[in-house]
Amino acid sequence: MCDQIAALVLPGADDLPFKMSLTFILLALLSTVSGLPTSYRFSRADSAAVNPIPSTAPANETAGCSSSTAADFLAQFSSTNHANITLALSPELGGNRSFLVHLPAAYDLAVPHALVVSFHGFKSNAKKQERITGLSGSGIRINGKGIVAVYPQGQFGPGKNGDESIRAWQGAPYSPPGVDDVAFTQALVSHLSENLCLDSNRFYASGKSNGGGFTNLLACTPETAGLFAAFAPVSPALYAGANPADCAPGRAVPLINFHGLSDRIIPFGGQESDRQGRIEYATPNITQFREAWAERNGCGSPSKVGAAVKLAAVKLNKKPAVSHPHPDTTLKAFLCNAQVNGFTVDGLGHSWPGTEGLDGGVATFNATTANIIPFFDTYALGQ
Ligand SMILES: *[C@@H]1O[C@H](CO)[C@@H](O)[C@H](O)[C@H]1NC(C)=O
Ligand SMILES: *[C@@H]1O[C@H](CO)[C@@H](O)[C@H](O)[C@H]1NC(C)=O
Ligand SMILES: *[C@@H]1O[C@H](CO)[C@@H](O)[C@H](O)[C@H]1NC(C)=O
Ligand SMILES: *[C@@H]1O[C@H](CO)[C@@H](O)[C@H](O)[C@H]1NC(C)=O
Ligand SMILES: *[C@@H]1O[C@H](CO)[C@@H](O)[C@H](O)[C@H]1NC(C)=O
Repeated sequence: MCDQIAALVLPGADDLPFKMSLTFILLALLSTVSGLPTSYRFSRADSAAVNPIPSTAPANETAGCSSSTAADFLAQFSSTNHANITLALSPELGGNRSFLVHLPAAYDLAVPHALVVSFHGFKSNAKKQERITGLSGSGIRINGKGIVAVYPQGQFGPGKNGDESIRAWQGAPYSPPGVDDVAFTQALVSHLSENLCLDSNRFYASGKSNGGGFTNLLACTPETAGLFAAFAPVSPALYAGANPADCAPGRAVPLINFHGLSDRIIPFGGQESDRQGRIEYATPNITQFREAWAERNGCGSPSKVGAAVKLAAVKLNKKPAVSHPHPDTTLKAFLCNAQVNGFTVDGLGHSWPGTEGLDGGVATFNATTANIIPFFDTYALGQ
């Protein structure tokens, strides 16, 4: 019995608050004593969903780790470790494209770092995305090292009325026509891989609203579904162009999603058109969007139970594990190798969840540090 308790509590125990560990011990004792394996299995799955176990997959160094011009590249970073880089790309990739890059304080040009790309919302920009996500924060680590955070800027599209000039990403009715942002993203990752020391097994994509929809499009596109290890679409604007009916990533894709129940821009329950009746503004029911990902990923199939969350002992079914990791927040986790975690936030509008209200609404937790980074840390390619 002692072995059983050890196995239950030890993995990831560093990450578990004392109270939670205690709960698991009690639940383990209860289920062992009373012969109720169901509660044992549920609490185990639940804990892994909230505090995922970091992947130990080896790093895969990019060319930038042995670049002879690494020092020249680093020279363009400011004293705050920022650089605003512009690439002159072809017109199909949007021409001159800029992105804001932040290096961790302990950036070491010989050590591979994780890369997190974060796409801003409609009308927003790179600087605002950095601010609302906090992805350049000093405590953020993946695989034990500081991360390189990148905030690309969308090109100017026609806006919602068709006669404006507003930054946006591919996949929305107001996207800049003819701009292939998927190919731009590949070009941006490739440029940074050549010039910075990155771990190509640990690239991650995230975004808010129109940028969240675009993050979903990256997850649905085979070339980019295989480029990034995991995806975080936050309050995503899932218009048909961002959430194609024939979404075919070519692999099971780990995905963590947040959506506010008071979101009036992209309603949680979905919409058939916008208020002006335009059907190109239709968006799906978020519950069904999450279920579709779980189904594509094969969650619920016992043969796919997996290494990633070390849940081999957990018997899965098609129903998600439900928990309340934060006040006013429900997590439905579809448990399998490539997990789908859906956070539903009561009272939150169209905002990146954070306690400071930097993106409008105030949540009881910081999505970036509490959940997104730990989730990303669970997944690496080549594991
Ligand atoms: C970076 O530079 C480009 C080109 O000058 C500019 O359009 C863009 O707004 C700048 N981005 C940031 C984050 O300062
Ligand atoms: C891109 O920037 C270069 C240098 O500033 C400029 O000469 C060129 O016209 C720009 N190209 C486009 C398509 O805006
Ligand atoms: C969204 O989908 C879920 C699951 O199918 C369903 O229970 C719920 O009623 C739907 N919500 C709306 C607003 O249609
Ligand atoms: C959220 O992040 C802010 C800014 O970094 C910090 O001041 C605050 O304490 C964090 N909230 C929680 C609940 O960790
Ligand atoms: C390392 O990354 C390259 C592409 O960057 C890929 O072709 C190769 O398979 C990866 N190797 C491992 C061991 O993951």
